[in-house]
Amino acid sequence: MTKTIRQLIAAAVLALPMAGALAAGGGNYDKAPIDIKDTESLQRGAQMFTNYCLSCHSANAMRWNRLQDIGLSEQQIKDNILPPGAKIGDPMKIAMTPADAKAWFGAMPPDLSVMARARGADYIYSYLRSFYKDPTRETGWNNLVFDKAAMPHVFFEWQGEQVLKHEKGADGHEVAKLELVKAGTLTKLENGKANTAEYDKRMADLTNFMVFMGEPSQVKRHQLGYIVLLFLIVVMLPLAYLLKKEYWRDVH
Ligand code: HEC
Repeated sequence: MTKTIRQLIAAAVLALPMAGALAAGGGNYDKAPIDIKDTESLQRGAQMFTNYCLSCHSANAMRWNRLQDIGLSEQQIKDNILPPGAKIGDPMKIAMTPADAKAWFGAMPPDLSVMARARGADYIYSYLRSFYKDPTRETGWNNLVFDKAAMPHVFFEWQGEQVLKHEKGADGHEVAKLELVKAGTLTKLENGKANTAEYDKRMADLTNFMVFMGEPSQVKRHQLGYIVLLFLIVVMLPLAYLLKKEYWRDVH
């Protein structure tokens, strides 16, 4: 191996954990209560994602038939999830053109295939729960974890209305907090106290699905493991054996 190649490999190996740390980001987000092995949660998330997100966002790295990895049969995908006109082998794309999107929202709705991996599950979970009323914004909504987001609050009927409040924290600094002032169909206000458990659970399902999209599936990873092992046994083992024979030929 030449020196440059060795250096390149070393640099790549060193850069990996750093890239991970950068991607995880900082910020003060709520911990997403998700479980990637919970297929029912993933299926609920897939349904929500299809119904509420794909109108503006694509997920081009994801094909409809990959939903079989979360326990749906091909027939179930066709009957319950696949949008009219789409084929099971198609990627999850949108009809809208990027130019239209930009004109309507002032910003491109990004592809969401690996968004959860890029921003982290906690960020997605917090983002989906942090929309608040802001009359200065064109959509009427702003977001506490993504200031001036061009995205409207898709689930305002479910969540109801939050407003931004500033409170003095323990150390005397002002902290921004959201307060539910109007209950939605999935939240309750009981004696002025907000109960958002049901809404939070739905957002956890949706986040869970986005994490699944961003991570190569367990199934695929195992298959790859076997292929690598097979390669080692079928190709490398005989090669090593021949090499050994070659080395020892003159000795015997
Ligand atoms: C009406 C169109 C529309 C719908 C529907 C929509 N979005 Fe968005 N979304 C946007 C736009 C526009 C942006 C870009 C915001 C910006 O850059 O200011 C965005 C940005 C995002 C981001 C990126 C945030 C960031 O930090 O960069 C995430 C995550 C996201 N959307 C998730 C979702 C999910 C999940 C759904 C489904 C529940 C959804 N969106 C539905 C228009 C939409």
